[in-house]
Amino acid sequence: MHSPLCSAATALLAGAVLLAQPQTSVESRVEALLSRMTLEEKIGQMSQSTSMATPVAEGIKAEIRAGRWGSFLNAGSPADRAETQRIAMTESRLHIPLLYGRDVIHGYKTIFPIPLAQAATWDPHLVEQAARQAAREASEEGIRWTFAPMIDIARDPRWGRIAESLGEDPRLGSTMAAAMVRGFQGDSLAGDQSVAACAKHFAAYGTAEAGRDYNSAWIPELLLREVYLPPFKAARDAGVATFMTAFNTLNGVPATGNRFLLREILRSEWKYDGMVVSDYNSITEMIPHAYARDPREAARKAVDAGVDMEMVSTAYFANLKSLVDSGEVHFTEIDGAVRNILRLKFRLGLFDKPIPAPAIVVPTASSLELAERAATESAVLLKNDRWLLPLHDAATLAIVGPLADSPVDQMGTWTMDGRPEDVQTPLAAFRKLLGNERVRYAPGLKNSRDLGREGFATAVEAARGADVVVLFLGEEQILSGEARSRAFLNLPGAQEALVDAVSAAGKPIVVVIMAGRPLTFHDVAAKAGAVLYAWHPGTMGGPAIAKLLLGTTVPTGRLPVTFPRTVGQVPIYYAHLNTGRPASESELGVPMGNPQQPAGYTSKYIDVDFTPEYPFGFGLSYTTIEYANLRVSSPVLSGGQTITVSADVANRGTREATETVQLYVRDLVASVVQPVRKLNAFQQVPLKPGERRTIEFSISAADLAFYDQHMRLVTEPGRIQVWVAPDATRGLTGEFELR
Ligand code: NOJ
Repeated sequence: MHSPLCSAATALLAGAVLLAQPQTSVESRVEALLSRMTLEEKIGQMSQSTSMATPVAEGIKAEIRAGRWGSFLNAGSPADRAETQRIAMTESRLHIPLLYGRDVIHGYKTIFPIPLAQAATWDPHLVEQAARQAAREASEEGIRWTFAPMIDIARDPRWGRIAESLGEDPRLGSTMAAAMVRGFQGDSLAGDQSVAACAKHFAAYGTAEAGRDYNSAWIPELLLREVYLPPFKAARDAGVATFMTAFNTLNGVPATGNRFLLREILRSEWKYDGMVVSDYNSITEMIPHAYARDPREAARKAVDAGVDMEMVSTAYFANLKSLVDSGEVHFTEIDGAVRNILRLKFRLGLFDKPIPAPAIVVPTASSLELAERAATESAVLLKNDRWLLPLHDAATLAIVGPLADSPVDQMGTWTMDGRPEDVQTPLAAFRKLLGNERVRYAPGLKNSRDLGREGFATAVEAARGADVVVLFLGEEQILSGEARSRAFLNLPGAQEALVDAVSAAGKPIVVVIMAGRPLTFHDVAAKAGAVLYAWHPGTMGGPAIAKLLLGTTVPTGRLPVTFPRTVGQVPIYYAHLNTGRPASESELGVPMGNPQQPAGYTSKYIDVDFTPEYPFGFGLSYTTIEYANLRVSSPVLSGGQTITVSADVANRGTREATETVQLYVRDLVASVVQPVRKLNAFQQVPLKPGERRTIEFSISAADLAFYDQHMRLVTEPGRIQVWVAPDATRGLTGEFELR
């Protein structure tokens, strides 16, 4: 059948010119097209709109015909996208295709665990596959640009968008950032199932003061380069097609008007030739930031800083022409921005392909299988006293808690395309696996914030009648994500009281926490025999959790972020500096004590231990892994050479496991003080019961480089301590000298 869309595109392909010759290089096609564009058309390309409702208004169609827009975000149905693309490509003067962007953050129709949970897999290959699947689904519905990955290092769980981050560590974050970019973009951007990725938010959005979203970031350049920029550099090196600026100011200058970030670092140092988009209204938000007087000045400053495309606000549309006419903005700046936009559209192959007919995608057996694997690998076992888990002996389970059967909450933040009807909850999964008669369900609370106790009695009764209670606690979807900062990190509502009530039944308790951030739940964990942190695990969270608890699968997740004991410790992260007065292990367990005679004038709190509740890198398994026999191949590492650090890792239990072996380093004396530990590398090792393997890490001098006081990347001679470790607080240690 010859659809009108296809015939329109065919006419375009046949009739039009030089521009549609794929064999001509992208750069010459960009130049040829640019030379034919009016200033108004150029400004149109630099403008992105969100106002495409279904059905698409005639006014919007007319604007598309007139070349008023280059891109639309988060708008329209697949049919709307196909129809408006047809208009752009056949009825506008230059036939320039539109670019449809959307927040495809952790899945499109098949929802994968939230990004923070994906980082907890420590499995870049799996994370890449998840992004690939999201790209397949989104591209089939006409979306060729995702606003992901969000690679802001996040060390403050109060910040709601920590859910969307890859955690606290630059090395882990960089590895996962590159994996996501590869997954979204595939082998070639021009592939039919590739979507352009977007490294966001450039930069330092994750350090919003006090964890309050959109707040200011104050970061010395050294810390910016050591911690916050590496994931962006990794994304750039992986070929990320676009960057997004951030809402925040960085050291007093809005990221959206920041020449240092966008021109000096991104374009000049990193030689980036992709496209830069603002965040939603972030150009005009430079007015309340008090950086621009009015939209005109905001537009000038954004263009000058190097923002190619304006998202939603219309400062470019309203002002760029007159700014060029008055000479305040030079036309070469406009051309530079438009080149970056057109280059992306050519690279995506948008000019060269027939407009795809509108399609509706649904999850498939294989996408669900992948989502289940991701949910399984992202869950972190935090406690398992006397091997309560796995639950092979339990005849009946009481399933309690507001998150046991809550499809929307289970998907987590940023899931506008995920359908609740596709979600398999833990309750449904247990019923399917064990049969209805072995599962007694009583939610106890209507949702995670519910303060009512009317449901407690039924929950207690269910607990009494069961062998084991599995409590599904945590946070609803709407408590994490953008603009969802929290000042308290405890389980909201009456969840703690529910745990108290249910524990009175005297049955063993397993707590499963589903949340978008690290929460504080010390007292709850103390009442439970086992705690599994499942995050917001996505569509297949239910089967993944049920099979983990029943022992069909084994937990392998590791924390990508430090869990505080209490919100007062925040920010708390493993790669801190030592201070001149470090607290010591001997000072643990004396909080409050006697303030007249503090345990020592050291860097700690008087009312809580200085250590975290659970450290970075931590996670248990259903077996015991033993680390032994650390070797360093030479006492000296000379420039240009490498040194090998190895250790034996053995599975001493009866279950198969995958151990995430982590290599940490510390430069013991340096001209700029270095963290007490830095993750340098990690490997995932499958181990059968009884199996022992030697794990080797190779370290070069370049791996030990750091920024000096003049922002030069240097290595300095001196002693280096290394650890081969199961988490950031333990492990076998050794030393060598860097010469
Ligand atoms: C604002 C968010 O900060 C950004 O991450 C997102 O991509 C845009 N809105 C578009 O929805």
